[in-house]
Amino acid sequence: MMKALLSTCLLLALLSPALPLKCRKAVNRTGLTYDRYIRQYCKFGQDFCSASVLRTNLVKFQEQLLNRCSSSISCFSGHYSFTAGDGKFFQMKKHCCKTELCNNATLSLPDRNMLAENGLHCPSCFSKGTIMCKSEKTINCLENETQCIQSTVALVTGGLQAHIFTFQGCGTTDFCAIGKKPIKIIGDGNFVLSATQESCYNASRISHKPEHEE
Ligand SMILES: *[C@@H]1O[C@H](CO)[C@@H](O)[C@H](O)[C@H]1NC(C)=O
Ligand SMILES: *[C@@H]1O[C@H](CO)[C@@H](O)[C@H](O)[C@H]1NC(C)=O
Ligand SMILES: *[C@@H]1O[C@H](CO)[C@@H](O)[C@H](O)[C@H]1NC(C)=O
Ligand SMILES: *[C@@H]1O[C@H](CO)[C@@H](O)[C@H](O)[C@H]1NC(C)=O
Repeated sequence: MMKALLSTCLLLALLSPALPLKCRKAVNRTGLTYDRYIRQYCKFGQDFCSASVLRTNLVKFQEQLLNRCSSSISCFSGHYSFTAGDGKFFQMKKHCCKTELCNNATLSLPDRNMLAENGLHCPSCFSKGTIMCKSEKTINCLENETQCIQSTVALVTGGLQAHIFTFQGCGTTDFCAIGKKPIKIIGDGNFVLSATQESCYNASRISHKPEHEE
């Protein structure tokens, strides 16, 4: 049975004009850059290529750049970021595409201290565990973070260790959108973040400092 299946698959693969997708795989990475890529033949079910950059200090300061094969089930282009209480943050940009070697986007993340405040603010807090932290102060939102977020999140870094925490803070609309997806997971490689509970609403203007939109 297995053999028959296998040979049918082989035959189909030989007859089919659709060869496996090839994606760029970044090699010789330093920080958030790479100087070379290799062609990676994607496996069955990997119908997308992805490029992503990520920076976070949720557990400790960590950065990651990845270009590789991916799957349409779990690849969503976007700019996912939040700034929480306690100086904790998560920044990630991801680009997903489905043609040969298409994951060549040069993604970069500006330094944290280059991010400008956008005139909005949100309640903020951060704590380990699953009990929602209490906000005692507000934080000023940065750049594209226009939403106030309350979330319980599990971050799995490099293997099986899961860090669970709750936070309130500012985030992007893309980050908020993962709460509405059937699979509430973002990340790549060594960083998989799943939002088990999430609520978002528009951040309010900082009243003592009226600002005009550009
Ligand atoms: C890896 O990158 C460094 C710095 O970008 C470069 O000097 C070095 O030659 C590269 N090594 C390989 C094996 O490509
Ligand atoms: C990136 O890939 C696209 C689609 O394959 C191609 O049109 C474009 O020229 C590539 N850009 C670079 C910088 O390689
Ligand atoms: C904010 O969003 C715009 C448009 O999507 C994008 O060009 C810009 O790079 C984003 N800013 C940051 C800091 O990522
Ligand atoms: C939130 O902000 C967006 C963009 O500024 C606006 O279109 C939307 O109506 C606002 N939603 C609420 C509930 O105020």
